[in-house]
Amino acid sequence: MTAELDAAALAQLFTEARTHNAWRDEPVTPAQLRRLHDLAKWGPTAMNTCPLRVRFVQSPAARARLLPLMAEGNRAKTAAAPAVAVLGRDVDFHTRLPQLAPHMAGAAERLAGQPAAREAMSTLNAGLQIGYFLLAARALGLDCGPMAGFDAAAVDAEFWAGTAVKTLVICNLGHGDPAGLRPRAPRLDFDDACAIV
Ligand SMILES: Cc1cc2nc3c(=O)[nH]c(=O)nc-3n(C[C@H](O)[C@H](O)[C@H](O)COP(=O)(O)O)c2cc1C
Repeated sequence: MTAELDAAALAQLFTEARTHNAWRDEPVTPAQLRRLHDLAKWGPTAMNTCPLRVRFVQSPAARARLLPLMAEGNRAKTAAAPAVAVLGRDVDFHTRLPQLAPHMAGAAERLAGQPAAREAMSTLNAGLQIGYFLLAARALGLDCGPMAGFDAAAVDAEFWAGTAVKTLVICNLGHGDPAGLRPRAPRLDFDDACAIV
């Protein structure tokens, strides 16, 4: 049986959670990053493809490789964040299907010959997994700063060389400093975005 989360949990995940641009001087530990993946990985994907791949950037050397590839406006906050996640989609996710989807006999072989389908499936499903990742981070008390402003080809070459992974989003992680928040922008109301038909 599942029950609705209490108001504090809903606020932490959604209504009070913000996209952060400045960071308090409080570390994010490797153990927290492991917990983050161990929570986010349970979100559903089509055929259980699980195409999201993550490089957590924490060392000064890795950060020095990343910073020049960020858009100018994203560089300072990425330099200051306690951890940075490079979130990519593995176009060759099908090679893991014998492990991940043993119930789908022959799926890996079929998808091997369908690169366009793998492009679409990896984009959709890793995108979903990025959503789970952001909410898992918030559930663990971390703040997020997702970004699409970076040189994607250069990030791919620097962080995913020798793989079929393509970067979708880079996300700063830490404990946000409210002083760096932008004004909250509105969202679409139910009647603007939805209909019950
Ligand atoms: C996929 C994605 C890409 C984004 N790219 C950038 C970016 O490159 N630079 C930036 O400053 N903010 C970026 N943002 C932040 C959004 O503008 C922000 O999440 C949105 O306005 C909601 O803000 P709020 O969570 O504080 O309400 C991005 C957010 C997402 C989800």
